[in-house]
Amino acid sequence: MTILCRQLGKVTRHVIFLRPFCENCQAARPLLLFPLTICIAMLALMKDSPKPAPRKPNPAAELAGSIAARLDRPVVLVGLMGSGKSAVGRRAAKQLGIGFKDSDQLIVKAAGISIAEIFELAGEVKFREMEQKTLGNLALASPQVIATGGGAFCQDATADLLLQHTLTIWLKASPATLLSRIGNTKTRPLLHNGDPLTMLTRLDKQRALFYKKAHIHLDTDGLSTYEAMMALLHALDTHLPRQ
Ligand code: S3P
Repeated sequence: MTILCRQLGKVTRHVIFLRPFCENCQAARPLLLFPLTICIAMLALMKDSPKPAPRKPNPAAELAGSIAARLDRPVVLVGLMGSGKSAVGRRAAKQLGIGFKDSDQLIVKAAGISIAEIFELAGEVKFREMEQKTLGNLALASPQVIATGGGAFCQDATADLLLQHTLTIWLKASPATLLSRIGNTKTRPLLHNGDPLTMLTRLDKQRALFYKKAHIHLDTDGLSTYEAMMALLHALDTHLPRQ
């Protein structure tokens, strides 16, 4: 556009300069006016050309900004294996612009061996001790998203601590959905003692009682990770008081 205007200025200057010399020259007039007409036509065309589309608003970013400003404690995800605590939690934390921690990962890092190996070598009771200690430290930290191991919230001491200091969200899904999301059950020692679907169904019945205590309940059946993350943001938005 700037270039075109500069060119138009040059042409106009030429026309004004040449005019006195061609006053009596009828034949030269159309020749001089021709470039000017072309430029005006081009300008008119550019004016009518479609403007670039305005940027689409990002609903997730707007929602996340409002939530992050109101969040004064960690958000802790509880629920059975495969409920999306890690996948959804990591994505929600990124969207909220806050940190993400996975208690199982921290335990593995501290122990230097896998969860399955901790269960095998030290037993579940030792694992639960490590879990409670890890979550005890995380619960008192600044706002961040924390994914817990499936059994953490079923330990009374751990649940009390989390209910008091954090905002807990139960990610629910049917046993069949959970199994399809878990895929490889090798890393889940509690699913090694029988048919995984039967084990998950049993755990679902036993643990619902504990998970029910969470501040927010979210059904993630049939939702993709992104959809579950959006549902989580909407639930947080509704739950947190407006400032
Ligand atoms: C467990 C779930 C696992 C892990 C351990 C015990 C449970 O974590 O903590 O295998 O008791 O349900 P995920 O829920 O992340 O799979």
